[in-house]
Amino acid sequence: MRIIITGSPGTGKSIIAKKLAKLLDLELIDIKKIVKKKGISTEVDIKKLASALKFLKKKNNYIVEGHLACETKLPADYIFVLRTHPNILKKRLKKRKYGKKKLEENLMAEMLDYCTQRVEQVYGKKPLELDTANKTPEKSVLEIKNAIKQKKKKLDSVNYSKELKNYLKLKNE
Ligand SMILES: Nc1ncnc2c1ncn2[C@@H]1O[C@H](COP(=O)(O)OP(=O)(O)OP(=O)(O)O)[C@@H](O)[C@H]1O
Ligand SMILES: [Mg+2]
Repeated sequence: MRIIITGSPGTGKSIIAKKLAKLLDLELIDIKKIVKKKGISTEVDIKKLASALKFLKKKNNYIVEGHLACETKLPADYIFVLRTHPNILKKRLKKRKYGKKKLEENLMAEMLDYCTQRVEQVYGKKPLELDTANKTPEKSVLEIKNAIKQKKKKLDSVNYSKELKNYLKLKNE
């Protein structure tokens, strides 16, 4: 089984993927670690990343996690995009001491459904979206497991257009 877990920074990919890998006994591949090890500049170098991930072709069982997984097509049976309400995401990212610009960029990406749209474009299919805002990581892991077992075509649906409107309004004032 080949699972991709992507989504904006702070949506819980690492914590959830780690628990899911344990539960399903799958190898866990963390894109961030590969990027660091190979010194890939993620701002521009998606081609280099794609090449560094070519080894996945030889594997049949894994969980790949990383927000960059939405940027390049990887062999996958299941693709999950983790979602988090911008107010909650803001709190999580603030704990990481993100600067104002980085915080805004990340919240904007979440409000614009960036990862979901990107997966649709890059992989040519709709991912399953999982809202991690009001559930424990453990609950998220079980929902992913059930979605796979029950071959679900849809999980949660989120809509942050109201938050985006408010955000843009505040920016203009
Ligand atoms: N319900 C929840 N689900 C997931 N994470 C949660 C939840 N509540 C709080 N958190 C916290 O949010 C943070 C999520 O961080 P995590 O490192 O898993 O995100 P990530 O998606 O891997 O981010 P990045 O793309 O930067 O690697 C963790 O500190 C985690 O403890
Ligand atoms: Mg992570």
